[in-house]
Amino acid sequence: MDDLPAALYQQLLDEARAVAARAWCPHSMFPVGAALLTRDGRILPGCNVENASFGLTNCAERSALFAAVSQGVGRESLRALLVYAPGVPVISPCGACRQVMLELMPPECPVYCVGHDPSASRAWTVAELLPGAFVFPE
Ligand code: THU
Repeated sequence: MDDLPAALYQQLLDEARAVAARAWCPHSMFPVGAALLTRDGRILPGCNVENASFGLTNCAERSALFAAVSQGVGRESLRALLVYAPGVPVISPCGACRQVMLELMPPECPVYCVGHDPSASRAWTVAELLPGAFVFPE
């Protein structure tokens, strides 16, 4: 796994915290922020966006990844993803987001997961997050 220099990690965490504060989560009261780092040093943020029709909710990770696609940032340009949720000691991405990560990010890309207890932070690669994943037949 490509370990990030401490200053870059801190930058991603600051960005994820800032975007978590913009989360639209009146139903769960569970804000989440994601910060996607590109190989050329750009940071693309995303937050969770909920809806009264609960199934329409979009997680922070997918908001950031869909923004990357919309901005023409391809899979190979992605270097790391950091996910932050202050409501738990450490966040663990949901299954839907893991499936989307697998399609839109390089398999060895690190996913840093952070909550309110920094000592509980974890890092996984995208491939580690979804072993035996479904991929569309070639
Ligand atoms: N959520 C995320 O945004 N990312 C995760 O990794 C887990 C869950 C959101 C979805 C919903 O808005 C709220 O957190 C509670 O599930």
